Amino acid sequence: MARQKTIYSCQNCGFQSPKWLGRCPDCQQWNTLVEEQPTTTSSHSRALPQPGKPQKLAEVSSSEEDRLSCGMAELDRTLGGGVVPGSLILVGGDPGIGKSTLLLQAFARLAQNGTALYVTAEESTRQVKLRADRLGIKTDHLYLLAETSLEQIKQRIKELQPAFLVIDSIQTIFTSSLDSAPGSVSQVRECTGQLMIQAKGDGLPTFLVGHVTKDGAIAGPRVLEHMVDTVLYFEGDPGHPYRILRAVKNRFGSTNEIGVFEMQEQGLREVSNPSELFLAERPKESAGSAVVASLEGSRPLLVELQALVSSSSFGTPQRTAIGIDHKRIALLIAILEKKVELSLAGQDIFLNVAGGVRLDEPAIDLAAIAALASSHLNRVINPHLVLFGEVGLTGEVRAVSQPELRVKEAARLGFTQCVLPQGNLKNIDSPDSIKLIGVSHASEALEVIF
Ligand code: TYD
Ligand code: MG
Repeated sequence: MARQKTIYSCQNCGFQSPKWLGRCPDCQQWNTLVEEQPTTTSSHSRALPQPGKPQKLAEVSSSEEDRLSCGMAELDRTLGGGVVPGSLILVGGDPGIGKSTLLLQAFARLAQNGTALYVTAEESTRQVKLRADRLGIKTDHLYLLAETSLEQIKQRIKELQPAFLVIDSIQTIFTSSLDSAPGSVSQVRECTGQLMIQAKGDGLPTFLVGHVTKDGAIAGPRVLEHMVDTVLYFEGDPGHPYRILRAVKNRFGSTNEIGVFEMQEQGLREVSNPSELFLAERPKESAGSAVVASLEGSRPLLVELQALVSSSSFGTPQRTAIGIDHKRIALLIAILEKKVELSLAGQDIFLNVAGGVRLDEPAIDLAAIAALASSHLNRVINPHLVLFGEVGLTGEVRAVSQPELRVKEAARLGFTQCVLPQGNLKNIDSPDSIKLIGVSHASEALEVIF
């Protein structure tokens, strides 16, 4: 009898090889190739449910009306304005961050529009019920199903005909058409493929919960992210109650849109005014604190940056950044040394974004520089002053996107001065209550501030 052919798949990126390899040539991870049966029922060849027929662009319907609201404005915003029928949405995040809580709360509200099915493949229905009791959920149209077999789940869906579906989580369900273990690349890919066909075919909006590995990627293959329509990351610092839902991919809306929540005793509460919340505990008269007018998607967010610069007692000074890319901070420190002539060598430097938020855009540079200089010089920044602007390698301050939105949010929160790039000053329509100060170099900004 001929030996059955097997294939080795990388559990990280989905790369396939006929031979075992110690290191994946695609993603460079060690020891990630695992022997699997080749997928016989390729879901890719069946990705589209109906045979395609060419259609005129003008005749394709693009109506937006059929988006459904989840009853949670923050979730709707992140999805680009509500749930699109037939969409496949992946919600990723660290264990315990609140993915199941978020989806249970959203589904309790969605169930008012039609039957909702929550497939719990990790917890028992009793556990979910206990959580629902805690969240005060009472609805007649939310069904729970504790099942891990994809075939069984599909059968139940056929019987119940739900209008919304959650699979919690995609890594714990399996299809019997493959021998490999649940959570392996081929299982995750095949199950997602089959759920996608179902979602598109029946117009059934489907939410998949996905776990995140230690290094921040959704466990299992990257292909999972390519297959779904929308990828949302639920993130936050376990030590803080704030949680941020971030769209990193969205075929139906803009990415980088965020929703802000606060984890409370009775579940997640939506935060519609995050800036006020993030600035609530700000020390007003202390050196090392600067407020940045950042932008997350279409939403301005005022956040406090805190810096601590103190002389190091050891040979190699420490450089720690929380909530900001540490490479960016190393760069800003070098700019401060060379272009602003602040001597930071031999200093321990800590930088923190208050409230457990993560800021990724370059517009925070100017505020980071201000906070570092403030701590180093031990000079307090005016508590009614806000900053934004990108700083280039020669110390020049570069214009950033959407200055008006940032300025308006700052004015709304009672800030009276705003230091911004000179290049952003023109055509800006700002409220009278806030004075705009344009700067073109980092050293000029520090002169204005101190
Ligand atoms: P959970 O939704 O189970 O996380 P995930 O599905 O992402 O693994 O959330 C678990 C955490 O949330 C747990 O640490 C307890 C906390 N929590 C609250 O603080 N309040 C609540 O009302 C609920 C339901 C959970
Ligand atoms: Mg969970």
